[in-house]
Amino acid sequence: MRRWWRWVACAGGWIALTYTFFLGFVTIVSLTDPSLIRTYQPPLDNMAPRGSWGWTSRRGGRGARLPWCQPLHWREPPGPATALVSFPGSGNTWIRYLLQQVTGYYSGSVYKDYALMKNGFPAESISNGSVVVVKTHEWGPEIRKSFSRAILVMRDPYLAIQAEFNRQSGGHIGHAQPDKYTRDGGHYWEKFVTNKALAWMNTTLDWLKFSGPLHLVFYEDLLDNLPEEMRRILEFLDLEVTENNFDCMIRHQDGIYKRRRRPLNFDPFTPKLRKFVDKCKRLVDQAVREVLAGGDVKLVLNNLKYSNDSNGNQKSVTR
Ligand SMILES: *[C@@H]1O[C@H](CO)[C@@H](O)[C@H](O)[C@H]1NC(C)=O
Ligand SMILES: *[C@@H]1O[C@H](CO)[C@@H](O)[C@H](O)[C@H]1NC(C)=O
Ligand SMILES: *[C@@H]1O[C@H](CO)[C@@H](O)[C@H](O)[C@H]1NC(C)=O
Repeated sequence: MRRWWRWVACAGGWIALTYTFFLGFVTIVSLTDPSLIRTYQPPLDNMAPRGSWGWTSRRGGRGARLPWCQPLHWREPPGPATALVSFPGSGNTWIRYLLQQVTGYYSGSVYKDYALMKNGFPAESISNGSVVVVKTHEWGPEIRKSFSRAILVMRDPYLAIQAEFNRQSGGHIGHAQPDKYTRDGGHYWEKFVTNKALAWMNTTLDWLKFSGPLHLVFYEDLLDNLPEEMRRILEFLDLEVTENNFDCMIRHQDGIYKRRRRPLNFDPFTPKLRKFVDKCKRLVDQAVREVLAGGDVKLVLNNLKYSNDSNGNQKSVTR
C-alpha cells in the first residue's frame, strides 16, 4: 500500500515538472516569435466609417486614450440643464470637448452618436443637469422648454453649410468629394444649401426667443480669441476652474475633431445661392444685433416679418 502511494506521488511530480517546462517553453517561443504575437483587433463593425474620427476609433477606446486634463465624471450635484445649441458644423463638438477638458464634467447630447460615444463623449443621449452642457441642433418651443439655460453658437452660414455638407458626405473629419457639388446638374447641392440656409436661420431666430438666460457665442470669435471666449462661457455657466486645467485645455485645444482645411478650386455658391444665403444672413444679423442691444425679441422678429411667437419677452442676453 505505501509503495503504491509513493509511486503515484513520484509520477505526479514528474507530470507537474514536465508541464511547467512545457509552459515555460511555449512562453519563450511566443515572446520571441513575432508571428505568434497578435495585437488586439477590434471587431469589424466597431470600425468607424471612412473619414470619421481617425486614430482613436481604430484603437477602439471610449476616449480613454485621449489626453484628458483630468478624469471625466458626472456633475455632482447636478447643475441646471444647459443647452449647447447650434446649427450643425458650427463648432458644437469642439466646445463640448473644450468644456470636458477644462471642467472634467461629461457633456451630453439629445442625440446618440455612436462615433462620438466611443471617442471621448460617453454621455451621448444624456440631457439633464448631470452633464455640463447638452448638445442640440433642434429648435422650436418644445425643445426650448426642456432647458433652463442655453448657449447659442453661431457661425457664418457659408462655412457652416459647407462643413455640414462635408460631414454628411465624409464623416466628422472627412470631406465631400468635389463632384458631389455638381451631382444631378448641381441641383442636389442647390437644394441642400437652400434647405440648410433656412434651417440655419430658423435655429438661430428660434433660440433668440429662449426665455431663460442665453449666451451667444460666435464661432469666428472662438477662433480669434479662444481663452477670452472660453472664460465668458465658464462665467455664464457659473463654473470655477483651476488655472492649471484652463492652461491644459488651451494646450490641447485642437482635440481630434478638427477638419483640415481643404479649399475647393471653385466657388460652390452660385450668384443665385449667394443671394439667398445673404438674405438669411442679413435677417439673422439684424435680429441678433437688435436683441443684443436690448430689443424686445418679439418686436424684433415681428419687424423681420419672419414668424410670430407669443413667448417674446425682455431678458438677459450675454455674449
Ligand atoms: C440624468 O440622466 C441619467 C440617465 O437617464 C440619470 O442616470 C441621472 O440620474 C440624471 N440626472 C439628473 C440630475 O436627473
Ligand atoms: C423654417 O421655418 C419656417 C417657418 O416656421 C418653416 O416653414 C420651414 O419649414 C423651416 N425650414 C426649415 C428648413 O427648417
Ligand atoms: C404677430 O402677432 C401679433 C399678435 O400677437 C399681431 O398683432 C401681429 O400682426 C403678428 N405679426 C405678423 C407678422 O403676423
